[in-house]
Amino acid sequence: MRIVLLGAPGAGKGTQAKKLIEKYGMPQISTGDLLRAAVSAGTALGKEAKSYMDKGELVPDSVVLGMVEERLKQDDCKKGYILDGFPRNTAQAEALDKMLAALNMSLTGAVSVDVPFEDLMKRLTGRRTCKACGQMYNIYFSAPKKEGACDKCSGELYQRDDDKEATIKKRLEVYTAQTEPLMGYYKNKGIVNSVAGTGSIDEIFSKVCAILEGK
Ligand code: AP5
Ligand code: MG
Repeated sequence: MRIVLLGAPGAGKGTQAKKLIEKYGMPQISTGDLLRAAVSAGTALGKEAKSYMDKGELVPDSVVLGMVEERLKQDDCKKGYILDGFPRNTAQAEALDKMLAALNMSLTGAVSVDVPFEDLMKRLTGRRTCKACGQMYNIYFSAPKKEGACDKCSGELYQRDDDKEATIKKRLEVYTAQTEPLMGYYKNKGIVNSVAGTGSIDEIFSKVCAILEGK
């Protein structure tokens, strides 16, 4: 399966992707995670990206496309992958189609996780992530047993720099203006399905799997 996960910031793309990795054994390609790794490593690309991420804006296509192209060529992508947070605008979607055609691949489908905007602020301000294993928590909905520590590996939990209220507002604006139109792009190709992203994480996961398995 080669799938794109669509959805607003905080819709649960990363949460669902982690469960898909466990179930189907295919890698998650999250451009947000790749960019944050570059920021942590202090590379030139990371420094450039951070200035956009801190403002809640999209990192330039030229930066992101190169990163994705390199990642798609790695061996583990031969068995399929989950694109999370990419593409983010029409130019990226068109570039992805070209990249895949050159690799003799095409997308199997796109799944949009839909959550009302009024729920997203709490999901994002409450998010905490494990520095060691990447497990996600939410202080309002799925708090760790011990404050600040990961239930799975005892790693330290951190809050993302862009999960501040002002930056979240900007990210949501950018989503509406640039990313939401991709629903139309994939509808035209006849490969998009939507799931309601409210309810329990497991309930949503069952619906996502049913779509992927054509049930
Ligand atoms: P990115 O990292 O992609 O962030 P995003 O799209 O804003 O999405 P999030 O990761 O915030 O949300 P999510 O949908 O993954 O939700 P999650 O599962 O964590 O991008 C960050 C930045 O990088 C961008 O702003 C941009 O600058 C740059 N960037 C990235 N990709 C780019 C690209 N292609 N082009 C250009 N720039 C790019 O869940 C959120 C919280 O909700 C968690 O706490 C979770 O526990 C909780 N939760 C999940 N499901 C539920 C549920 N069912 N009920 C209750 N709580 C839930
Ligand atoms: Mg994410």
